[in-house]
Amino acid sequence: MKRDFLEVDGFTPDRLARLLDWATAWKQSPSALPATLADQGVALVFEKPSARTRASTEMAVVGLGGHPIYIRGEEVGLGVRESVEDVARTLSGYCAVIAARVFDHATLEVMAGAVPVPVVNLLSDRAHPCQALADVLTLHERLGTLEGRRVVYVGDGNNVAASLAFVAALSGIELTVASPPGYELDEDVVDRARNLGGAVEVTNDPYEVVKGADALYTDVWTSMGQEEEAEARRSAFAGFQVDRALMETAGEQALFLHCLPAHRGEEVSAEVIDGPQSVVWDQAANRMHATRALLADLMEES
Ligand code: CP
Ligand code: NVA
Repeated sequence: MKRDFLEVDGFTPDRLARLLDWATAWKQSPSALPATLADQGVALVFEKPSARTRASTEMAVVGLGGHPIYIRGEEVGLGVRESVEDVARTLSGYCAVIAARVFDHATLEVMAGAVPVPVVNLLSDRAHPCQALADVLTLHERLGTLEGRRVVYVGDGNNVAASLAFVAALSGIELTVASPPGYELDEDVVDRARNLGGAVEVTNDPYEVVKGADALYTDVWTSMGQEEEAEARRSAFAGFQVDRALMETAGEQALFLHCLPAHRGEEVSAEVIDGPQSVVWDQAANRMHATRALLADLMEES
C-alpha cells in the first residue's frame, strides 16, 4: 500500500528511529545511498517560495538516483487551468512521488486521494513535516538520546510548531510551546500529540519554562500567506523574541534552532542566531539528509 507523508503523526516511533538511523548512516557514508529512485521522476510542486525545501529535496532525489521536476503551481495553473486531481494524476504517470508546498493543506489531501504514488507535504498552512524530520535529526546529532530531553518552542503556534509537536511525541522529547494569547498551538494538535504519548504543554510565558531546556526553537511571526497580518503580529509577539536574555535564562547548554528563513530583530536577535549556541546551519543541511531517508522509507512501502 502506498504511504503518503502529510504530517509526522502518520509515523511510528520505530519508523522514525529507523529513518534517523538511515539519515545518519548515509550522511556519514554517501556511497552507501541506495538507488531507490533509479530512473524515476519526483514532481516538486510549489505554490510558495522556497530556498531550503526545494534545493534539499532536489538533491535528496538525485542522491537516490532519481530525477526531480520542479513545477510552480501558477505555471501549471494548479486548480485553475486544471483541477488539482487532474494535475496530480498526470504527474503520477511520470513520477514515483509527488511532493508539494501548498497554501491549503486540503490540496495535499486531494492529491493523495487522486494518485497511487506517495504524496509528500513540503509545507502547508497546517504542517511542515519534512522540516520536523531535519529538526529531530539535528537534535539527535547534538544530544544523543532524545527521550526526556526538553525543547521550548517560542512564538507562533504554526505549521512548524505543529509538526515539531508530533516529532517530539514520537521521539520522547518533552515540548513546551510558548506563544502570545491567541497564537497558541491548536488544541487539536495538542490532543493528537498527547494521544501519541507526547508530553506537550502550552504557555504564554517563555521565561517561566526555558530554564534548563536542551533547546529553544523559534520561527517567523508571520508565515507565508499571512502577510496582511504582519503589523498586528509584530505587536502581538513583542516580548517573544529569542534574545540574549532568554538564552541566558535557559542556560549555556541550550541549543538554538530555527527552520529559516529568519528575521533578525523580530523573532530572534542577530547575536543569538549567529552565536555559538545556534545550530541553524546544521538544521538547514540536515533537510537533505532527512529527506533522503524519508523518500527511501516511502518507496519501500509503495
Ligand atoms: N525551512 C524551510 O522550509 O525553508 P524554505 O521555505 O526556504 O524552503
Ligand atoms: N512558518 C513558516 C515556515 C517557513 C519555512 C511559513 O509557513 O511561512
